Amino acid sequence: MFHLGFFTCFASDEWNGPLAGHSASFADGRFHVDTARDLERACFDFVLHEDSLAVPEVFGGSRDVYLEEALVTPEHDPVPLTVAVGAHTPRTGVAATTSTTFHSPFALARLSSTVDGLTPGRFGWNTATSTGDGVAADFGAPQLLDHDDRYDLADEFVDAAEALWNSRDEGAVVMDHATGRCADLARVRPADFRGRWLRTRGPLDTVPSPQRRPVLVQAGASDRGRAFAARNAEVVVATARGIEAMRAYRDDVRARMVESGRDPDSCEVLFLVTPIVGRTGEEARAQHDDLTRTRRHQVDVLARLSAYTGHDLSVHDLDAPLPPIATEGSAGLLARLAQWGSRKSLRQCLAEMGFASDCLDLVGTAESVAEEMAAAMEEVGGDGFLLGAPGFQPSRVHVASITEALVPALQRRGVVRSRSEFETFRQNLPAF
Ligand SMILES: Cc1cc2nc3c(=O)[nH]c(=O)nc-3n(C[C@H](O)[C@H](O)[C@H](O)COP(=O)(O)O)c2cc1C
Repeated sequence: MFHLGFFTCFASDEWNGPLAGHSASFADGRFHVDTARDLERACFDFVLHEDSLAVPEVFGGSRDVYLEEALVTPEHDPVPLTVAVGAHTPRTGVAATTSTTFHSPFALARLSSTVDGLTPGRFGWNTATSTGDGVAADFGAPQLLDHDDRYDLADEFVDAAEALWNSRDEGAVVMDHATGRCADLARVRPADFRGRWLRTRGPLDTVPSPQRRPVLVQAGASDRGRAFAARNAEVVVATARGIEAMRAYRDDVRARMVESGRDPDSCEVLFLVTPIVGRTGEEARAQHDDLTRTRRHQVDVLARLSAYTGHDLSVHDLDAPLPPIATEGSAGLLARLAQWGSRKSLRQCLAEMGFASDCLDLVGTAESVAEEMAAAMEEVGGDGFLLGAPGFQPSRVHVASITEALVPALQRRGVVRSRSEFETFRQNLPAF
């Protein structure tokens, strides 16, 4: 059996989607509450809310296309959204992305402890190191730290947060009615963390939450990103193109975990896919082509990749191959688009790109896609999938195609859960 997670962003496509009349705004969170209920009924392990922290100004040297066409932005803070969603979904994990570069360990440890108490026991923290100089400017930093330094900082951030979560032992909260004593003083201590960048005293001022620390989710693809994952992550969400690359990715993360002294089975590696499900294979293929051959999709890919790489892709001739481009950002996604060495024009590459970060192209009937997913997991030896939506912006129609058609087909094969078994997000993970 394997795990299912769902990847979503705050600004869903519903304002402009096929059922737009139902929820004109995304900001009240209703869309996410409704869809999370559907995902819970389909026994998803968790919903992962992404985040990015700035209105990019890279594509065309301007923020216009991002604002006007709702690409990367608008974005609202995903952490409060997980509380709203968690209040209506008593069994699904709710994970939110928070930056280790622009948050403080004390604030994050306190926030996550609070949310894990409110949800209760189902909060996950997707650690992002953040890219783009715009983020640094928004947070008043002179510039963004270099890529690998951001990961060194992130390691330190996790250690500092860990020290804070551990500043109260099990049993520190006694709440003794007879004596009126709330805490056992012998079980509370300062964290006293001092690193190269970060310091915090503690103790944390919250009571320990049901999971004590949130489930740590991570998506770093680079060498340094994988080293961070091997040291810290309990769930890795990955993009690797094709079965071979997926297997190599998982094997690599697991080998690095062994080197770091961790049990490789204490981390699940889930692969990002965007299944497009139709009543027939032809219908699904037509739907996929309608979604990926549009001007909007091309602009989405170019503007998004410009933001993720810091390189303005609008300056390149669509009818020539992309020249080599150096980036401190998403080199892997850029290579996937460019197909360097193939001599294909950028226009041709865009037509072949499909959904940018997908590991597999899953297009067909519910039965055929379920079969492909099950076969892929057999070959990869893997732990599951993170299901995304076209343009990362889910619609009710897309979610329904997953929960009402694809998941039942997977359940009929016995490869995913048919009922939720555990109370906390973390308890779900080692079940298979
Ligand atoms: C499934 C998935 C989800 C991601 N979600 C976010 C996110 O919400 N916010 C963010 O800043 N980066 C996000 N990223 C980017 C990663 O954090 C990371 O920066 C990227 O994969 C490049 O890896 P590297 O940082 O190790 O070079 C995501 C990546 C993947 C594959």
